[in-house]
Amino acid sequence: MEICILGATGLVGRELIPLLARAWPQANLHLFASRDQTLELGGRSYPVGAATRLEQDGAPRGDLAFVALDDTHSARYVPRLRELGYRVVDKSNTYRLNPEVPLVVAGVNDGIVDEQCTLVANPNCTTIPLMLAVAPLRQKFGLASLAVASYQAISGAGLATLDRFIANSLAGYAGDRLGTAFEATGYAGNTVPHNGKTDASGYSSEERKMMLESAKILGMPGLPFSAQCVRVPVAVGHYEQVWIEFEEATTVADIEAVLAGNHPFLRFLPGAEGAGLSARHCLQVRDEAFVGRVRSDLRDPDGRRFCLTVVADNLRLGAATNAVRIAARWFPVADPTLQVG
Ligand SMILES: NC(=O)c1ccc[n+]([C@@H]2O[C@H](COP(=O)([O-])OP(=O)(O)OC[C@H]3O[C@@H](n4cnc5c(N)ncnc54)[C@H](OP(=O)(O)O)[C@@H]3O)[C@@H](O)[C@H]2O)c1
Repeated sequence: MEICILGATGLVGRELIPLLARAWPQANLHLFASRDQTLELGGRSYPVGAATRLEQDGAPRGDLAFVALDDTHSARYVPRLRELGYRVVDKSNTYRLNPEVPLVVAGVNDGIVDEQCTLVANPNCTTIPLMLAVAPLRQKFGLASLAVASYQAISGAGLATLDRFIANSLAGYAGDRLGTAFEATGYAGNTVPHNGKTDASGYSSEERKMMLESAKILGMPGLPFSAQCVRVPVAVGHYEQVWIEFEEATTVADIEAVLAGNHPFLRFLPGAEGAGLSARHCLQVRDEAFVGRVRSDLRDPDGRRFCLTVVADNLRLGAATNAVRIAARWFPVADPTLQVG
């Protein structure tokens, strides 16, 4: 089996390399990024080629490609990879809302990935864990509306931004415990709106992604959903507070009973105090989403509105692991924790 990763040197690409060794240990791996280089990872050196090599005559054909590039470069390379015979899982925003392309959360709607399908879009890193928690509740109680406030880690913005954040954080607190010299709009020492590409609706692109992708995955185009996304000064781990309204009245105990059932890649943590629910905890269990803190919404007149918390590792469960589980629909994997269905 010939597998390639485009964007292998980035944060998501680096997570894919050990996952692919778990999933398809016999596969030949071909790594690509912006230029020819060597990637040092986990005590090994990997040769990486310039992605432009794939555009040349005689470029290697293959079976499976993971694309972890920005939107512009995804749009450039995904068609070429398909021409070369690869089945592609794309992690960018480029194809997510394209009606021709399945948008898939493994464990929720991976059944739509069949042999005919050669391109699948991987949802945003907040959408994936949210859907894993919401899907079983929707099945039991019906879904009327959602509201989410996210507290998102800096690694969601890529390697260069994460490295700059770490350097600025170390410098900004040195000798100044209030961090008075931090930039008021920067990520270091700060909490800021996720405000890229805010449009006339007043919602940022990150907020629109969560709302529109969720509606597509659930097959509920009119789903009433309001998202508020924020960046917090944490390296890895996205935290989401969810207000959920069901069609049917229910109770905290019944919701907890559903979440405690056997749902793929979802771990329920009992108790309203939220023990075990933190960005740091998800770095210990990187391939599952956590859900807990189930409470009644105190504004609720009729037993249909509740609050809960969802947390996951944005680089693994929210990106690389979901992509590998999608591809496991086409190519069965050696590691059962990565297999769907
Ligand atoms: N980070 C997350 O939590 C997360 C979660 C879900 C989805 N995503 C999505 O996944 C994608 C990758 O994100 P990331 O965080 O891994 O980004 P990243 O750390 O910034 O890595 C970007 C990758 O793109 C490569 N690249 C840059 N310019 C290129 C060019 N001209 N030709 C070919 N390759 C080029 C880089 O290679 P060089 O090292 O050679 O520059 C690097 O491998 C993005 O679409 C992002 O939105 C990210």
